[in-house]
Amino acid sequence: MVSTSTRIGSFHFDNCLMNAAGVYCFSKEELEAIDTSAAGSFVTKTATLEARQGNPEPRYVDTDLGSINSMGLPNLGIDYYLDYVTQLQDTPNSKNHFLSLVGMSPEDTHTILKKVQDSAYKGLVELNLSCPNVPGKPQIAYDFETTDQLLAEVFSYYKKPLGVKLPPYFDIVHFDQAAAIFNKYPLTFVNCINSIGNGLVISDETVVIKPKDGFGGIGGDYVKPTALANVHAFYKRLNPTIAIIGTGGVRTGRDAFEHILCGASMVQIGTILHQEGPEAFTRITKELQDIMSEKGYQSLEDFRGKLQYLS
Ligand code: SIN
Repeated sequence: MVSTSTRIGSFHFDNCLMNAAGVYCFSKEELEAIDTSAAGSFVTKTATLEARQGNPEPRYVDTDLGSINSMGLPNLGIDYYLDYVTQLQDTPNSKNHFLSLVGMSPEDTHTILKKVQDSAYKGLVELNLSCPNVPGKPQIAYDFETTDQLLAEVFSYYKKPLGVKLPPYFDIVHFDQAAAIFNKYPLTFVNCINSIGNGLVISDETVVIKPKDGFGGIGGDYVKPTALANVHAFYKRLNPTIAIIGTGGVRTGRDAFEHILCGASMVQIGTILHQEGPEAFTRITKELQDIMSEKGYQSLEDFRGKLQYLS
C-alpha cells in the first residue's frame, strides 16, 4: 500500500500535501475546507498583531503560467488564528496544523511569539520572513544580519516548534550564508519558497495589479525550477533535524514528486489550489501515489532527497 504520510519534527501527517499560506486560509470557513479535504494539514494566513485590510484591489491575478499577487498581508489578526488552531487541536482525531505569523516590526514579532509561547497551542508555527508585498518593508530573510539577530532573540524565549518561510535565493553563496545562519538555531523546518518577489505582469500596455505600480510576487509554473533548487540547496546544507517544506509550482503529482526527490518532507500548494479549489488535493495525491506505485516506492522515505546527478 503506497503511503504519502510524512513527519515534520515530532508531528505526523497522513498526507504530505497541504495549502501554502495565502491560499484558502483567510477565514475559519476556508481553513475548514482544507481541513476536511485530502490535504494532510493546513497553514493559516500569515497573521500580524492586529488585523489588516492589505493592499488595494485588484491585488491577485491568475496568468497562463501562474499568478501574480500583492496582497499586503490581509488577515484577521493573531488572536483569530491562534484561537482557532488551539481549539482545533483539542478536537478528536484533529490533524496537526501550522500557524503562520510575522510582526510589522521586530517588536511586534516578539509580542506575537510571546503570546503563542504563553498560549495552550502546541502545534507548529511558521515565521514568515519573506513577504515581498508590504510597501516600505523589505523581505527580512534577504537581510542576513537582521535574520540572524531576530532568530537569536526569538529562540531566547520561544521554546515551541518553529520554522521559517523563506524567499527564493538565487546565488550559491547566499544558500551557504543563509544555511549557516539557520543551522545555528533549533528550527523545526524551513519552507522554500515564498513567491518570487516583485515581478511584473502586463496586459496590453497596463500592469494587472494595482499595488506597487503592478509589482508583485510570482507563483505557479514560472517558479518551479527556482523552488526545486532552493529545496535541494537547503536539503544539502541544513542539519538533518531541520525538515524542508517544498512550495512553488506544484500543479501535478509529478511536481510534488520532484519536490520530495529534492528533499521536501511536505509539499505546499498555492496557485493551483486557488484556481482549482480543495479538490486539487485529491487529484494531486492520486497522481503522486500512481508515480510512486509505478516506481515501486511504498513511502516518501524511499525517494526523498534521492535526486540523481549526471556523472
Ligand atoms: C501577501 O499577503 O502579500 C502575501 C504573503 C506573502 O507573500 O508572504
